[in-house]
Amino acid sequence: MKTIKQLLSMKKDNEKISMITAYDYPSAKQAQNAQIDTILVGDSLGMVVLGYDSTVEVTIEDMIHHAKAVRRGAPDTFVVVDVPFGAIGIDLATDIQHSIKLYKDTKANAIKIEGAHVELIERCTKIGIPIVSHLGLMPQSVGITGYKLQGSSKEAGNKLIDEAKQVEQAGAVMLVLEAIPSDLAKVISDKLTIPVIGIGAGKDTDGQVLVYHDMLNYGSEHIAKFVKQYGDFSKGEEALKLYNKEVKDGIFPSEAHTYKKKIMGENNA
Ligand code: KIV
Ligand code: NA
Repeated sequence: MKTIKQLLSMKKDNEKISMITAYDYPSAKQAQNAQIDTILVGDSLGMVVLGYDSTVEVTIEDMIHHAKAVRRGAPDTFVVVDVPFGAIGIDLATDIQHSIKLYKDTKANAIKIEGAHVELIERCTKIGIPIVSHLGLMPQSVGITGYKLQGSSKEAGNKLIDEAKQVEQAGAVMLVLEAIPSDLAKVISDKLTIPVIGIGAGKDTDGQVLVYHDMLNYGSEHIAKFVKQYGDFSKGEEALKLYNKEVKDGIFPSEAHTYKKKIMGENNA
């Protein structure tokens, strides 16, 4: 498993860091077998796995349920778990309680917080919870911003640079930047010591993250410009259609998938 220290040196050595989302045991196992550096149990699970309209409906319980399965599938990979909408931003004591619960129950290596919650990042860091910050497009705030490019004006860009410095100062161990102009992402990556992982932020960040279901064309309805599809799990539907037809036509099961009477009770493996 990559440690935070190793991820830091990867940045120093200009070695790119890979991250993929995973939400269950088999996808986590695939990510670990593929030797991807880090896994994110993203609250994107609300949309790609649970069928919600946005990440806003995802609960702490949802995150814990899925993150535990991911931990079992990838025991030797650095796992980050998203703090879902509504779990923080209440008051500092409650925010800390929820952060502790998520970290403790999932055995994650870090938790990810959307927005520059500087005081919370400081406090979590102080009690030993590694924090990944998430700035730029923040899907939990989609009711305010919509799904659109962030930081494109000079003021917005400067504000983002300031916030990135603040979260690093507060103790964040990594930063995710979503949907911002690539030149701004480069400036921020250069200014920070901690690794910056981009999604829709160009090639000059210290690493990249993609959503599993988007990059594998697995039931995702809207594919953003920044997504590259590396596989096509939609083909699974053809397999289901064939199965359906073979059952109806009496083709499945054939001999090969049938126990013979002769071996029943003897060698019935
Ligand atoms: O929830 C998620 O998948 C994310 C990534 C897109 C960074 O936060
Ligand atoms: Na997320």
